Amino acid sequence: MANHEDIFKKVISHAKEYGFIFQSSEIYDGLSAIYDYGQNGAELKNNLKQYWWKSMVQLHEDIVGIDSAIFMHPTIWKASGHVDAFNDPLIDNKDSKKRYRADVLIEDYCAKLEEKANKEVEKAKKRFGDAFDENQFRETNPRVIKYTEEIDTIIKRMSKSLESNDLEDVKKLIEELGIADPVTGSKNWTEVRQFNLMFSTKLGSTADTATDLYLRPETAQGIFVNYLNVQKTGRKKIPFGIAQIGKAFRNEIVARQFIFRMREFEQMEMQYFVPPGKELEFYELWKARRLAWHHALGLGEENYRFHDHDNLAHYANAACDIEFKFPFGFKELEGIHSRTDFDLSAHEKYSGKKLQYYDNEKQESYIPYVVETSIGLDRLFLAILSNCLKEEELQDGTTRTVLSLPPSLAPYKVAILPLVKKDGLAEFAEKIYNDLKIDYNVIYEEKDSIGKRYRRQDAIGTPFCITIDHDSLEDNSVTIRYRDSMEQERVSLDVLTKIIDEKANMKYLLLRNHIKDLLA
Ligand code: GAP
Repeated sequence: MANHEDIFKKVISHAKEYGFIFQSSEIYDGLSAIYDYGQNGAELKNNLKQYWWKSMVQLHEDIVGIDSAIFMHPTIWKASGHVDAFNDPLIDNKDSKKRYRADVLIEDYCAKLEEKANKEVEKAKKRFGDAFDENQFRETNPRVIKYTEEIDTIIKRMSKSLESNDLEDVKKLIEELGIADPVTGSKNWTEVRQFNLMFSTKLGSTADTATDLYLRPETAQGIFVNYLNVQKTGRKKIPFGIAQIGKAFRNEIVARQFIFRMREFEQMEMQYFVPPGKELEFYELWKARRLAWHHALGLGEENYRFHDHDNLAHYANAACDIEFKFPFGFKELEGIHSRTDFDLSAHEKYSGKKLQYYDNEKQESYIPYVVETSIGLDRLFLAILSNCLKEEELQDGTTRTVLSLPPSLAPYKVAILPLVKKDGLAEFAEKIYNDLKIDYNVIYEEKDSIGKRYRRQDAIGTPFCITIDHDSLEDNSVTIRYRDSMEQERVSLDVLTKIIDEKANMKYLLLRNHIKDLLA
């Protein structure tokens, strides 16, 4: 059984080898934490966007979508708090000259304690077998209790110090816990300092007239500053939502774990505008809806969990993450935040423009409160890629690599494979390709043995392979081979579209989500 690091390495190398993700500017030795999506990655990413957009915007009549610019007036970032508070607490190691996020060093220390607690649980599980009650063990075992309490105390202290900007205490905590540089083991640390994560650039051609701008660190502000435009032109009544998909930029210091933490990434965010006092009700509703959206993908419900924030951002009165079980453990995939009226009030103050909503029913004006759902598209991509990549042992003793993507997300839905090029098979196959390509992304391959071609399609997640042989010319039928079961079936061309449609049409994924969403 491969360990987590090996599994993750395999995901990264598979992503490159099969045209999903390349290091940006690779021929110039690359740019750190910046990636390009290749021919298969771009297709998968577009399908993920489509699933999000269709389910959030088109299936909710109270939500509309926009596409705002990346460059925005610089005062927006002053109003939003990003100029003053969008910082990471950094610490340098004087010996290794390496820079770390102080909070990440402390969190990693706690993760090790959690690992120790989990080992105790695993040992006991083996000892007691079926009779083992994990909850009871966690509540009563002195060693597990000690680890859990220690984690709790450390996280509470760190959160308090970060909230009050007591960076001296953060350093003290690192020293008290004996945390060493993970690479060199040195404990010779500098002070902790705040470092702003926004990239800046200039607008204008001459040095003296140019204006300093920021590349947006979140897409949300483009929604806030357009909220009244959308509300008025779309004649929207509160509660209603505005969604958008777009690039965001952060000068991340600890940029590691492949596309998990990037400097240029994509967000899919939705701001839901509600009457003041109703925000926590809608916060709970959106928590349930978003979890249902993830579950509908079918990656295993046990791979998701909520994590409530102890350390609330400057704009929130409640916040949580939906965490996913990545190869390196449970980590944030999506954030759900009750952002109060912080952003709209601040924009009203800084712009001098009224951003109030007139509520006809209540006959009063107010600044709406906001519940936000914010998911990183690249993180979602990584979650899916790592969950679906499998090495399978086959009955004949060989192994195959298969990417068992939900069929409607797969880059290609169908591969058209003539057994040989000659005897009119290629022409027959091309006709099927042309018939299907209007409805689906289809790939045509005639090189290599059929076995090799099947394996290549398995590795990029194509759910159906269609093989055309000499009999096809006679009886108008083909062999369809299913990616997951590897079963093959002879079918008439008349029923081909129906078979593909039943599994690979996104309609069914959307319906599954919609039903879960209504029940949420
Ligand atoms: N508007 C709220 C906001 O931006 P966030 O928790 O900072 O909240 C939301 O980011 C989501 O964006 C995260 O849950 C994550 O999926 C994604 N994200 C944030 N920083 C990222 C990065 N450096 N690389 C990739 N994805 C990132």
